This record gives sequence, structure tokens and C-alpha cells, in this order.
Amino acid sequence: MTKAVYEEEMDIPIEENSVEKVETKAKRAEQADIGNLPGVGPATAEKLRESGYDTVMSIAVATPGLLVDASGVSETVARKMINAAREVLDMGFESGLDVLQKRQRVNKITTGSKAFDDLMGGGFETGSITECFGEFGSGKTQIGHILAVNVLTDNPEAVAIYIDTENTFRPERITQLAEGRGSDPEDILRRIKVARAYNSDHQLLLADKVEDLISKDGMNVKLVVVDSLTAHFRAEFIGRGTLAERQQKLNKHMHSLLKLADLHNVCVYVTNQVMAKPDQFFGDPTQAIGGHIVAHASTFRVYLRKGKKGSRVAKLIDSPNLVEGECNFMVETEGLKDL
Ligand code: GTP
Ligand code: MG
Repeated sequence: MTKAVYEEEMDIPIEENSVEKVETKAKRAEQADIGNLPGVGPATAEKLRESGYDTVMSIAVATPGLLVDASGVSETVARKMINAAREVLDMGFESGLDVLQKRQRVNKITTGSKAFDDLMGGGFETGSITECFGEFGSGKTQIGHILAVNVLTDNPEAVAIYIDTENTFRPERITQLAEGRGSDPEDILRRIKVARAYNSDHQLLLADKVEDLISKDGMNVKLVVVDSLTAHFRAEFIGRGTLAERQQKLNKHMHSLLKLADLHNVCVYVTNQVMAKPDQFFGDPTQAIGGHIVAHASTFRVYLRKGKKGSRVAKLIDSPNLVEGECNFMVETEGLKDL
């Protein structure tokens, strides 16, 4: 089915260069049914859905090999499916003006520290993935709690999702932080939806479920925290032989998070550990887990470390539009504070 026919069937009027156009594209991506793609009969559709390819978008961003594995179709058919999915979603070029209009949807979530907000260009952005990596106790989990309280305080209708893989979400801490912001702790806690992920499969499943919370249940999700992004992957895939498999799975996870951020204008905040880099003699001898897959999928990357007198140092490593730099802040009972 061509894009034009598809639009006609879905009865979606597309206005050039409008914010609605961007949002309509997102709607179309949600509503598109994989069963309508060429080469996808009911049996293939079922197999694809079972393997997690339940939206046209998930097929559009897949590789032929993954679809062959998931559904048993030939590689030629898989390529056709991917091309058709891309056509339906109009994944070609958009004008700079479209992108600018999309950027105007972006909100910034304050960290509570002016220095940290300034470093991030005003706060943590919606529509993107921000990764904080650093050693234990560097403040990654604290930032997750703080962003949740701040986004919910500033957006009275919003909901925050917390995918907790290490059992470190603490409602008591949320209460303290909410009081620090002068918000009603019960109201804030009610609007944080916490799920404990027991392994990496569960973690992927939970990330996909967020999509349902938004599209089916109509939740106004503004923030998704994944703390920690990589701990299960690190524990489950041990040894060099498993690296490719781990990276493939992590890639799938990052794509579904990216999709959430992009289609629904959600701020995705992920935390990541570091490991010793044995061959590094100069500079910082640590590197983030997850390698290029995580690094490339994250729009903003922040390296956290402990500073002098109990302070924390955040260093912006990677950003499409901000100057790289550093700032200092304190983690306090009421939230983040400037030095
Ligand atoms: P890992 O998950 O172990 O890798 O560490 P992390 O980077 O997630 O560290 P986390 O965010 O848990 O930081 C813990 C640090 O935050 C503690 O060492 C304290 O310094 C600080 N902290 C946590 N809670 C409070 C609090 O209620 N008050 C104050 N003042 N500091 C706190
Ligand atoms: Mg932590």
C-alpha cells in the first residue's frame, strides 16, 4: 500500500509544515497495522508480533536478518517489508522547518541546580535520551528521583515512569524531594508508575509497555527513567562470545526508547555504570558500559563523578547543540543545589 492510499484510508489530512503534521505522523505510526504490509500474511504477522515486531515502526527500523529470524520469511521478503514500512511512515527527509517545529515541542526538565541546568541548555530535554554514567554513588539514581519530582511538580497532569532494575527506587526519597519542592508527596507518588525489571527481557518488555500506557491508556507520560540501563545486560551476558548478542538486544532496547522519546515527546533518562579501562594510562581510566550502541543512541551523555567536599561533577560529553563543559552541584535532602 502506498503512503497516499494509506493516508486516505486512515482519513488523516496532512497539512504541510505544521506541528500537527509531526503529530499526525506519530499517530500514523501508532495506528499502522503490520498485517497490511506486503508479504505479511496472518501467520507471519502473528510470528512477528510474538517476537515483539508489533508496529510498523519496529519493522521499519529492523534489519532484514532480524525479521528473517523472527518470522521465517526470506530475506527478499524481509527487505520488501522494511521498505514498505518505511514508505508508510514517510521516513525520508523532512524540511529544516519541520524539524524546527518539532524542536518547539521540546520541554526542559529542571534538575534544581542552575549550574547543571545551564550545562544541559536549560534542563533535561523531552524528545531525547539523556544518559548519565559514572561510578557508584556518583548520583545517577538521585538524579532519576529528582527529575521525576521536578517534572511532576511543574506539570500537574503529567506522569513519570520508573523502570527500576536494581531495586533502588525509594518512595521515601520521593517524599523528601517533593517536600523540598513544596509539592504534595502523595500526589507526586501517585503519578510515578514504578516497575521492577527482573531481567533484561523483562526490561525490554516494560519499555514496550510504556507505549501502551501512552497510546492505549492515554497517560501523559513526560519522563521515563531506566535505572540502570545496563546492569542486567552486564550480569547476563558474560564473556566475549556473548557480546554480539548483548549488543543486538541493547540496540533493540535503545531503539524502542528512542521511538518513545521521538514519537511522544518524552524525556528518557537512562543510567549507566562504568568499567575500568585497563589499557588507559592517561586521562580518566573508566568507560561506560554498552559501548557505541548506547553512546550513539543517547542524544546527551553526561559523565558524573564525585568532586571535592561531597560535591558532584557533571561533564557533558556528547551533545548535538551544546558546548561541552562541566559543572558542580550538591545532592541534598531537598534536591540538587548549586555550590
Ligand atoms: P550506583 O547505582 O551504585 O552506581 O550509584 P548512583 O550513581 O546511582 O548513586 P546514587 O544516586 O544512589 O547516589 C548516592 C549518593 O547520593 C549518596 O552517597 C549520598 O551522597 C547522596 N544522597 C542520597 N540520598 C540523599 C539524601 O537524602 N540526602 C543527601 N544529602 N544526600 C543523599
Ligand atoms: Mg544507582
